[in-house]
Amino acid sequence: MAVDQSQIFRDGEGDAWFRRNAKALSVDHREDQVLAAIERLHRTGERPQSICELGCANGWRLAAIAERYPEIGRLAGCDVSEAAIADGSHRWPTLDLAVGPIEQPPIQGLFDVVIVSYVLHWVARSHLSRAIAAIDTLVNDGGILIVSDFLPDRPVARRYHHRGDVKLYTYKQDYGATFIALGYYERVDNLIFSHSGVEGEIDPQDRAQCSALRKSFATYEAA
Ligand SMILES: C[S@@+](CC[C@H](N)C(=O)[O-])C[C@H]1O[C@@H](n2cnc3c(N)ncnc32)[C@H](O)[C@@H]1O
Repeated sequence: MAVDQSQIFRDGEGDAWFRRNAKALSVDHREDQVLAAIERLHRTGERPQSICELGCANGWRLAAIAERYPEIGRLAGCDVSEAAIADGSHRWPTLDLAVGPIEQPPIQGLFDVVIVSYVLHWVARSHLSRAIAAIDTLVNDGGILIVSDFLPDRPVARRYHHRGDVKLYTYKQDYGATFIALGYYERVDNLIFSHSGVEGEIDPQDRAQCSALRKSFATYEAA
């Protein structure tokens, strides 16, 4: 029987990732491509009142957003890692953080900006379309979806090297394109970069992309 990768992340692999990376999170926000994209959007006049991040770890990025843009009313996030959410809830009690999967986020309402950064590559393929639908449901009509993830030449599945006992994969593909294919998202900001930060020519397995996509039913219907 196929391994339910999303269940394995819920059952402790999310906590293991957080324990390995907790110290590095939020050390230097200047390098974060999602925060940089939000700053570019802000400079063009975008003034979101609500932001949500799915698979937010301890909410470090939401905390940075709260500090930079104190006028934003609602900042919500979820992650499957109980350890990450407990840590973030303790550090930043004003954030609305909850334990739950991207496929069925424990978050109500619509958001002007929804962020999904390096999470979809770990969602079980049997849950992917559910996750895409759940993300789309949270984005306000007229709002922005920011998707950041690996961008290889074509979809690839790479073995997740932290677990030799079970077959887990990192599924790399252009997730922004999945939303654009729906017809009512269009790219308004895009940056391609090396995930590991190396200079020069980027290996396709290390190439990453941060896309800001505007959701607009009206633009689609007027075209
Ligand atoms: C590579 S980390 C990225 C964390 C954060 N988004 C960032 O950009 O720093 C992936 C995160 O996704 C979480 N995760 C894995 N599978 C998930 C799922 N199905 N639903 C929600 N979160 C998930 C992990 O616990 C981990 O916190």
